[in-house]
Amino acid sequence: MPSRLTRAPPTSAPTGTKGHNLAVSDVDSLTAVIAGHYRTGSTTGLDEYSVACPRRVWRVQQFSWWMPSMMHRFGGPDASFDRHPATLPVRLSPHLHRGNHHLRRELRRLPAALNRPVENLFRGGGAGGIIGAMEFRNFDARGYRTVDVRTGYGEWVANYEQTVEDVMDLALLDRLQEPSWAAVTRAADLGCGTGRTGQWLRGKGVPAIDGVDLTPEMLAVAQRRGAHDRLVEADVAATGLADSAYDLVISSLIDEHLDDLNRLYREAWRLAAPKAAFVLVTFHPHFIMTSGMPTHYTNSAGESVAITTNVHLVSDHVAAALAAGWRLAELHEGVIGDAWVAVKPKWERFRNHPISAAYVWRKDG
Ligand SMILES: C[S@@+](CC[C@H](N)C(=O)[O-])C[C@H]1O[C@@H](n2cnc3c(N)ncnc32)[C@H](O)[C@@H]1O
Repeated sequence: MPSRLTRAPPTSAPTGTKGHNLAVSDVDSLTAVIAGHYRTGSTTGLDEYSVACPRRVWRVQQFSWWMPSMMHRFGGPDASFDRHPATLPVRLSPHLHRGNHHLRRELRRLPAALNRPVENLFRGGGAGGIIGAMEFRNFDARGYRTVDVRTGYGEWVANYEQTVEDVMDLALLDRLQEPSWAAVTRAADLGCGTGRTGQWLRGKGVPAIDGVDLTPEMLAVAQRRGAHDRLVEADVAATGLADSAYDLVISSLIDEHLDDLNRLYREAWRLAAPKAAFVLVTFHPHFIMTSGMPTHYTNSAGESVAITTNVHLVSDHVAAALAAGWRLAELHEGVIGDAWVAVKPKWERFRNHPISAAYVWRKDG
């Protein structure tokens, strides 16, 4: 005889259910870890949780993104029908009720000391202190003191141009098949820094470029360089630039400083005109994880200082871009080879490792 569960009508999309199971299993593991901490005083479980949990979460997230992308179309005239399964009402499954019961039972066992905010139980802060995010501190091989973006680039500006290598970003831009640079009429350069990207675009014939950056000292250098028509001091997630005004949006070497990629991809979408391209050049997550190196500079006292660095997997980019509406048109990866070793001989040990990537996203319609 079929069980009650198998006879029940489907009440949520399979990926939705997977998400519920993930949430419950996470609460379950975290509860056990917190309970263990208060029972034994050991922080080992807490430390291990912060490493193991993100790995599991990202695996499930990637699967949940991949599965519907195989089965549904998310654009065109059928879009509202295609999305329908995701809007079905959700009812908790018996497994979820069991999970909640287990959680309540475990929480009742915890001592009153648990009334402290849970985030205080975790050391450091990594990627903005987000529990469950891919935190750079899990890979950090340098242990440099870390400062925020404005402080860091405000100091690095003194020798930024001498330390950033063209092979990281400009060489990748040179490899792109599209967009057709000469056909671009107006570009928004998000995280324009000292204007390197803007100058490269001018060289390709882009006639008008607006730049946005958070760091006034970087903007001052860009101003002197003169590659941009307009420079705005703002966050790339809220630029204040006009809607649909750009047929190219570009952002080079900044996303590792953002804790939420969704906001960048959504803002780029808002600025983009129909059929516009969004070109994003990024530090490769593999390199950040393998080298254990944050984005860093040497200050005037000779100290190596890190600037807040986050690890965004390729799947993070794909998920954030697709959610904003973008279609992937092109993707290149920059691998360390002779050109890199010529400018950084010490990086022979990283030969054949990918270090950067360039995505070209397209706004259809
Ligand atoms: C490595 S530099 C890249 C600059 C330039 N795109 C280039 O390729 O040389 C990173 C720049 O991003 C800026 N930045 C980082 N986070 C930002 C944010 N949330 N909003 C605006 N600018 C940001 C920094 O101020 C810095 O100028």
